[in-house]
This record gives sequence, structure tokens and C-alpha cells, in this order.
Amino acid sequence: MTDAFKIGIAGLGTVGTGVIKILTQNADIIAARAGRPIEIMAVSARSKNKDRGVDLSNYDWVDDAGDMAARDDLDCVVELIGGSEGLAADLVRGALNGKKHVVTANKALVAHHGYELAEIAEGNGVSLNYEAAVAGGIPVIKAMREGLAANKFSAVYGILNGTCNYILTEMRETGRDFADVLKDAQEAGYAEADPTFDVEGVDAAHKLCILSSIAFGVKPDFEALTVSGISRINATDITFASEFGYRIKLLGVAQEVDGEILQVVEPCVVPIGSPLGAIEDVYNAVYVDGNFVETPLLTGKGAGEGPTASSVVADIIDLARGISLPTFGVPVSQLKDLSPLDAGACKGSYYLRLNVLDQPGVLAEVSAILRDHNISVEGMSQHGRDPDQPVPIVLTTHEAIHADMVKAAELIEALDFCVETPCLMVVRDI
Ligand code: HSE
Repeated sequence: MTDAFKIGIAGLGTVGTGVIKILTQNADIIAARAGRPIEIMAVSARSKNKDRGVDLSNYDWVDDAGDMAARDDLDCVVELIGGSEGLAADLVRGALNGKKHVVTANKALVAHHGYELAEIAEGNGVSLNYEAAVAGGIPVIKAMREGLAANKFSAVYGILNGTCNYILTEMRETGRDFADVLKDAQEAGYAEADPTFDVEGVDAAHKLCILSSIAFGVKPDFEALTVSGISRINATDITFASEFGYRIKLLGVAQEVDGEILQVVEPCVVPIGSPLGAIEDVYNAVYVDGNFVETPLLTGKGAGEGPTASSVVADIIDLARGISLPTFGVPVSQLKDLSPLDAGACKGSYYLRLNVLDQPGVLAEVSAILRDHNISVEGMSQHGRDPDQPVPIVLTTHEAIHADMVKAAELIEALDFCVETPCLMVVRDI
């Protein structure tokens, strides 16, 4: 067996601790697969004395993670600090410039600075691996960069945030409220340091941005994404969606049409029995449309210590084996600038939930606005009847133009009897 592959780990939170556990517990099998042992030389975190349930006594403790970039006893720096700027970004730039490979789980960093970092990695003859940044334990980066590399992709759809999927599933199954379920997700180690990144769709957007770059050969362009989260979804929507045969899912959608790319993260309704409708709990799924493979579905746990650390260690094993790939699947010089598709021109069927005073003429006025925007109603349901209280009404539509649907929802909101911003979600049959 050849020399050990030597790593430093910066960041000992949920994922960092998990990486040490896997490298310790599965050391023999990992060494056999990598063709050499993986040796942890140094570790770094904010607090030295915290009990993490792992023995750190055999590793050098580094107070300033940034110092790992300059250590000449490391082949690879494993960055598990997180955040798109500051210490994590400085460490990754420094390590790549110092000709060390980098493995990271940091989706914000790759989404915001991926192109620059890919240039630095390529210029220094080293790799930037980030399997754990997207969909936790599912090897989706490997699948898209390698296993599906023969295909031209037209679309990538994903349930990319375990916290949101867990919250939506728990709310539906148990009737518990949003804040209560979010707390569980935080305690289980699924949620981001700032959970608004989860519930407002930002975390899923970071991941979609990365997948879109690999799928379409474009520079990661986070600013080109349209993002909304699940905080406006309430128990009424969850109940109505079920009644219409749907599940509510926070979906990431990237589609290429004639060289233009749509990138959107938003809550959508999907049929209960569809491939993505069946993905529940903390599970993630990525569903791609490739011109020869057709539509494979990859699914597994998208968050948590074990699944995420499993992907980090797989990246380390690849590097120890000597496998090196272009960061986004093609050399940086071939990555194109992204040309965004106008979302307003897209067509779809919609779910529209209103909260209105229950009085004569409401439906007539709503229908008139829909008629004026060329929107045809497919189904309707009203729950409850109380002249003194607002009642929820849900309409589903036939195919309509997105900009028309948004305009109609704005006009309905302005009517006197409408007491709340309508909830509008596209129906995706995936
Ligand atoms: N907070 C993320 C999620 C896990 O809930 O999916 C790490 O990406």
C-alpha cells in the first residue's frame, strides 16, 4: 500500500464529527477502496474543549483554520465551516492556491464563488470536490458529472432541502405547527445554522444553482435564480392539496429551452403518486431529464450527520485514488454565461388559494378576473360557511401563462372581500 492520503478537517460540527467517525470506524474498508490509508493530521473548530463524542487526541489542533492552507503535511483540506464568505472562503482559496485538494460541503460557497474557485483549482492542478453540498447522502454530483455524462440534459427537478420536506410531511401527518416541527429538524441536525436559509428556499437554491451548472455547462449564477420558501404555506393549503390529490413540495426546477435557462425554487403542488410526490420526510430526490437515459430518479437522505459525512468521505476517497474531474464537469474555459429564461412566459396549471369573506358576488368577481386573463378553472372547493368569518376557497386551473396568473392573483388580492394575500402554486406533474 502506498503513502497515506493526509487531510486536515476544518469545522467539527455535525458533519465534521460524522467524517471523523466514518474514517475511524470504516478505516480498513476505506483504505482498501482508496488503495491507501486516509490519515487525519489536523483538525480545527471554534471551540477546542467541547465534547463531540469523538477522540481528537491523535490530531494536531489548529486554532486558526486558515493556517491549514499553509501546512505542507496535507494533501487535502476538508472545509466544513460553512458560509459563502469569511473564514471558509479564505481557507478554500488559500488551500487551492497552495496546491491542496479541497473537499467541502459548503453549497453557499460553491454557488456564489464556484466559477472563481474552479479557475483557481484548475490553475493549480488540484480538485474542488463538493458531493456533500447537494442532497446530503445522495451521490448526485457523481451521477451527473460521471454516470450520466453521456447525456444532454433538458431539465433537473429536485427536492433539495430535507428540513422543508420534513416540515411539510410532519405538518400533514400530525397536524403540528410549523415552528414546532422546525425545532425538531434543528435538533436532529438537519437545519442550517440560520434556518431561514432552509425555510425561505435559499439552501435549495444554492444546490439547484450547482446542479444547473453541471447539467447545462454554465457558470454558476445564483443571481439568476428566483427563490421563494415554504413559510407562507399553512395547514389549510396542506389539507386542500391532499383533497385535490396533491402534495406540496419545495421544488428546485432548472430547465433549458433554446439555450435559455429557467432556475426557480418555490413551493409547488405535485400529484401524490408521482415520483417527487412520493418523497417524504427528510428525504431528498433529484430527477433529471437526459436525452438518452430519459428520467432517472435519485433519492436518499438529504441531511443529517451520517448521510452528509458519507458524501464527504466519498470525495476524499476519490482524491486518494487519484481521480480528478473538472469542477463543473467541463474545463472552466468551456463554461458559458447563463442566459435566463423569462419565467413570466412559461405555461402551467395552477393552485390558487384565497381567503375571502363569504358573501354574494365573490366568485363572480374572481371568475371575471380569471376570464380577463385567459385563465380557465379546472376545479374549485370551499371549506366552511360563516357570513362573519373569512373562508378559504381553492381553485385549480387549466394551463395558463405564468405572468397572467400572477397578475390575476394581484387583482384578486386588491378586491375588498379578499382578506389575505392569495397563495399561488404551480402544478408540476413530476
Ligand atoms: N439544511 C439542509 C437541509 C441540509 O435541510 O436539507 C444540508 O444541506
